[in-house]
Amino acid sequence: MEKLYLFVLGRDPELSIIEIESFLQSKNINYEILDTNKNIAAIKLSQFETSFVDYLGGTIKVGEVISNTNKLDEIEENLELSELYKGTKNKINYYISGFSTDLTSFVEDFLKDYFKKIKLKALYRKETTPSSIIKKEILKEGLDLIIYKNFIARTIAVSNLIELKQRDIQRPSVDYMKSISLRLAKILINLSKIKENETLLDPFCGSGSILQEAMLNNINVIGIDKDKESIKQSSDNLEWLKENYPIKANYRLFNLDSRKMSSVVSKVDAVVTEPYLGPYIRKLPNIEEAKSLIFDLTNLYSSIIKQSSEILGKGKRLIIIIPRLKTVEGKTLYIDIRSLVEQNKFYLVYEPVIYAYSKSKIIREICVLEKH
Ligand SMILES: C[S@@+](CC[C@H](N)C(=O)[O-])C[C@H]1O[C@@H](n2cnc3c(N)ncnc32)[C@H](O)[C@@H]1O
Repeated sequence: MEKLYLFVLGRDPELSIIEIESFLQSKNINYEILDTNKNIAAIKLSQFETSFVDYLGGTIKVGEVISNTNKLDEIEENLELSELYKGTKNKINYYISGFSTDLTSFVEDFLKDYFKKIKLKALYRKETTPSSIIKKEILKEGLDLIIYKNFIARTIAVSNLIELKQRDIQRPSVDYMKSISLRLAKILINLSKIKENETLLDPFCGSGSILQEAMLNNINVIGIDKDKESIKQSSDNLEWLKENYPIKANYRLFNLDSRKMSSVVSKVDAVVTEPYLGPYIRKLPNIEEAKSLIFDLTNLYSSIIKQSSEILGKGKRLIIIIPRLKTVEGKTLYIDIRSLVEQNKFYLVYEPVIYAYSKSKIIREICVLEKH
């Protein structure tokens, strides 16, 4: 049966939406995105499991819609019927977060009366964080409502950022200067539409953030890096992961220049990577320096895209981050990704999506390529 859900999106909503779409497509779940803004997506789904938020890097929480009308008497009726508190305590906390809606104060008043009527001591807070929802077990012993326009939803799944943070800190070996966040790693993996038991390649694996998050989804992984130390870091992290999580997937690591990757890999189901994006930039380059860097990077990416095309079958994806370089003169230089895509039998599934770390001097573009 189809139901309506509100997805509360993370910092990069455009990316979160295409991640959700790819994820649902890979699971063959029918969906229709009814409405979105920069915080929320209202999505009709043929199937939903609360574990989905643990896979999605760009979704903060998901609520099941219990009312979708602007008629106040109908809202009251919908809320009455939806058995708002299912726990056993006589004192609870409840939260409401409203987005682009003028229903919040109406629902606040309704809940005050409702809890009085059912004789439950209920403490109201306007907003909360995903971590405190988890710490205080609000989904079991409280209530969290999301209101977007006329949609009122009860939160049923929250991203466990505490667990993610712990994994990030506890893994034995990370170079934060080089590595992407685990949240972004998850997003990139989902964009690739890879499924359990398939094989993912990261040809610039660094300390293995993408590899580890893929293995947690029972995806077999291959990592390549030309830096011996990075391969050692990946190896330490993946061994630690296997010891600490119930993982069936396998990994293989190669200390190699990825321009030679087809000498060790003949077929994979997805290539997902943040490649070398140029040297660490303290101050902006001038236009000549930037042009020379763009030239070198284009050669490197050309080789990677060409070889990825050889090892990926029809319909399989290459997810690659490419930089845009800002210069001291105020210009921005681009890699000509479109011609590399066309020359190598790929097409761009989406317009490249910008992902900018606030402090970073380079702008990252996330490109989703699919093989013709
Ligand atoms: C941006 S980091 C990748 C970070 C990784 N995604 C992570 O989260 O840990 C780029 C990596 O590419 C490696 N690298 C640079 N040029 C390479 C090449 N030609 N072949 C293979 N690896 C290369 C570097 O050693 C570095 O570890």
